Amino acid sequence: MLDRYGRNITYLRLSVTELCNLRCRYCMPEEGVCKKEHSEMLTEEEIVLAVETAAELGINKLRITGGEPLVKKNIDSICERTAAVPGIREVCITTNGVLLPKLARPLKDAGVRRLNISLDTLDAEKFRYITRLGSLEDVLRGVETALETGFEKIKLNAVLIGGFNEDEIAPLAGLTKRWPVDLRFIELMPMLDSSEFGPEAFIPCERVLQALPELEEQERDGGVARLYRLPGAQGRIGLISPLSSHFCGECNRIRLTADGKLKPCLHGKAEFPIKGLDREGMREQFRTAMLAKPEWHGELSYASRSQAGRNMNTIGG
Ligand code: GTP
Ligand code: 5AD
Ligand code: SF4
Repeated sequence: MLDRYGRNITYLRLSVTELCNLRCRYCMPEEGVCKKEHSEMLTEEEIVLAVETAAELGINKLRITGGEPLVKKNIDSICERTAAVPGIREVCITTNGVLLPKLARPLKDAGVRRLNISLDTLDAEKFRYITRLGSLEDVLRGVETALETGFEKIKLNAVLIGGFNEDEIAPLAGLTKRWPVDLRFIELMPMLDSSEFGPEAFIPCERVLQALPELEEQERDGGVARLYRLPGAQGRIGLISPLSSHFCGECNRIRLTADGKLKPCLHGKAEFPIKGLDREGMREQFRTAMLAKPEWHGELSYASRSQAGRNMNTIGG
């Protein structure tokens, strides 16, 4: 369906849980989430109905997010059922990778085509620091299992943070030589609880171009990243720059949170509830939400924070 600015909305980001087995400092508070009542969250039946409704309105791509989607007990069933919805061309997942050694195969069998895996540093101590409780080794094992399992595409996501991993631009980018993966650097987005990052943490993706002058520009592929390649590398380097150069003009996305709110924009306040609605009611809310997509998310910087009023784990990125 076209929104008011002529953008064709074809991509639904579906968050299936706010819970996570890590606690990344840019994403959620240390104490985790205050667990909402089960009755507030969408059921599997509601999720499937929402995806069917979305597909009828022109959604053809589904990305399942969290929190951490792989901690959801029925994740394989959600993937299998949503992948079977007529009109859904592909189901993808964004994960922290920790549970992939166990779940990569069942997810592939359930019809998941592509994986995006978060990896902000290659230093075990820094990894533990940024995730507050994760182990780098687990994630590297997760990436390797995913590669062996044979997904169509694997992308690694590194949130670029001044004073934290700016010195790792080259080694992180080097992963595209070691593995057939894309590595994307993402500008840190100032959400509700990222108060522990000062202004120096918010650095632009241009730093990557300065650190790696050998990067060769590649054609865009319809995603949010500008694309480059290191000479001879198997995968590409992507730059996702919501702060320094927003991509709202090409935005084809709508979001559904685990507690059943449609979000027209990642950084907007507007939310449209669908919990408990029937097919007709959901269709109406999807239409309303798509038409409420703002032209852009407004100024986003250290001083001018996201208007979402949520942390990233309750939206799904
Ligand atoms: P694909 O194009 O399907 O690979 O998805 P993606 O790159 O959008 O998905 P992923 O979940 O890996 O997100 C990568 C980063 O992009 C995360 O930091 C997201 O928060 C961010 N992102 C995704 N969509 C948007 C968007 O519409 N606006 C902004 N500002 N950031 C986004
Ligand atoms: N800024 C930028 N990216 C973020 N992510 C989570 N929180 C933020 C933030 N504040 C990323 C994760 C994951 C993706 C879904 O979003 O690293 O890769
Ligand atoms: Fe969990 Fe992902 Fe948030 Fe890290 S970024 S705390 S892995 S949901």
